[in-house]
Amino acid sequence: MSITIGTPLQPSAFKVLLLGSGELGKEVVISLQRLGVEVHAADRYHNAPAMQVAHFSHTLNMADPIALQQLIDEVQPNLVVPEIEAIATEVLLHIEKQNKTTIIPSAKAVNLTMNREGIRTLAADELGLPTSNFRFADNLASFRAACDDIGYPNFVKPVMSSSGKGQSHIKSFEEVDAAWDYAMQAARVNQGKVIIESQIDFDFEITLLTVRAKNPTSGAIETHFCNPIGHQQQNGDYIESWQPQPMSQAALESAQHIADKITTALGGCGIFGVELFVKGDLVWFSEVSPRPHDTGLVTLASQFQNEFELHARAILGLPVNTEQHSTAASAVIYAGTDGTNLSFNHLETALTNPNTDLRLFGKPEGFVKRRMGVITARAATTDHAREIARESAKQISVKA
Ligand SMILES: Nc1ncnc2c1ncn2[C@@H]1O[C@H](COP(=O)(O)OP(=O)(O)OP(=O)(O)O)[C@@H](O)[C@H]1O
Ligand SMILES: [Mg+2]
Repeated sequence: MSITIGTPLQPSAFKVLLLGSGELGKEVVISLQRLGVEVHAADRYHNAPAMQVAHFSHTLNMADPIALQQLIDEVQPNLVVPEIEAIATEVLLHIEKQNKTTIIPSAKAVNLTMNREGIRTLAADELGLPTSNFRFADNLASFRAACDDIGYPNFVKPVMSSSGKGQSHIKSFEEVDAAWDYAMQAARVNQGKVIIESQIDFDFEITLLTVRAKNPTSGAIETHFCNPIGHQQQNGDYIESWQPQPMSQAALESAQHIADKITTALGGCGIFGVELFVKGDLVWFSEVSPRPHDTGLVTLASQFQNEFELHARAILGLPVNTEQHSTAASAVIYAGTDGTNLSFNHLETALTNPNTDLRLFGKPEGFVKRRMGVITARAATTDHAREIARESAKQISVKA
C-alpha cells in the first residue's frame, strides 16, 4: 500500500501523535513537518521541546491508560510514535488490534523494550544472542543470592528505568544492600524488580542505528545500517558520541547480525538504536531503543539523512539512505545549574569553527545534569571532531 500525505490542518491531513516530547522528539517533529505531516506532541509538562515545533500539543500522564486512550480517540492519528518508555503500553496493544492506527514500530516492540526483562529474555533466551550473564530479583534475599551468583563487579538496574536511574556498579558484596535500596528508590515505575548483569570487559561500546524501511519497488521491509557510533557514558548518560567507530570486519558483521535479529523480532518500520559492547571480534547485545537514540545526535552532522529524518521516512513508508558524508562527533551541553528561564552565553565563541553546529533544546527547566543542548563538529578524524566538539561545548556558559 503506498502512502498519501494530505494537507496539515485540513481534513486530508496525515496525522502523527508523538508520545514524549523531548529533544529527540523535537527533531522527529521537524523532519515530519518538512514532509507535510500534521504533528501532535504529548508530554507530562507544558512547553516540552517537541511541543514547541508541533502543530498541537497535549499535556497528560501518558502512563495513565484512560487519559492516553482519550487522547488517541480525540486526535485519531494515522501513526502513534512513542518517544519515551513510560507509556501505558496496554493501550497501544489494544489500539494496534483495531487496525486504524499504526503503532511505531509495533506495539510489541514498545511493550518489550520498556522493560529490561522483556527485551533481555527475547534477546538471550529466545534469539540466543550473546549478552552479559544476568539474573532477575524482586526481593533483597534473592537479590543478594543473584549478586553472589553473577559475581563482582556487576551492574544492577531496575527493570523499568533509563538514563542510569537507580543503577549501581557493585564492586563487592558489601555494596549489595545499598544498591538494592537505591534501585528501589529510583526506579522510574517501581516494579520492585531489578536485573543483575555481569560486567562485560569491552574495548568500546557502540550504537548501531538500524532502520527497517519499505523497499519502494517491492514494498518488502528491508534492514539498513548506519555506520557504528562510538560513545562515552558517564553515570548512565552519554556525554560524547562519534561516527564512525572503527572496528574489525568480523565485529561489524557480528554487530549487524545481532541488530538484524533483534529488530526483525520486534517488527514494524522505523529506526532502532541497538546498543552493543565490542571486544576485538566479539560483540555482546546490551539493549535496544525502538526509536532514535541520544548518541545518534551526531548524525545531524554526519549523514545525508540524520537519524530523525530516517525515522520519519521509514515510518511513513518512504525509502531511506543511511550513507554518511562526514566524520563527526557530538558533545552534550548540561545546564550545570538548577532553574528555569536559563540563558546560554558565548555562543559565537563556541561556533567560531565553521565545522561546528549547535542545538539548544528549549527545555523550560534545567537541572545540574540535565541535557539542554548539543554541539556537533565535523573533522577529518573522529579524534579531532571529538576535540572540537568538546572544546566548543565548554565555551557555552549557562546562567539562571
Ligand atoms: N553488563 C555491563 N557491562 C559493562 N558495562 C555496562 C553493563 N551494563 C551497563 N554498562 C554501562 O552502563 C551504561 C548504561 O547502561 P544501560 O544502557 O543498560 O542503561 P540505561 O539506563 O538504559 O542507559 P541509557 O538510557 O543512557 O541508554 C552502558 O552504556 C555501559 O557503559
Ligand atoms: Mg543504554
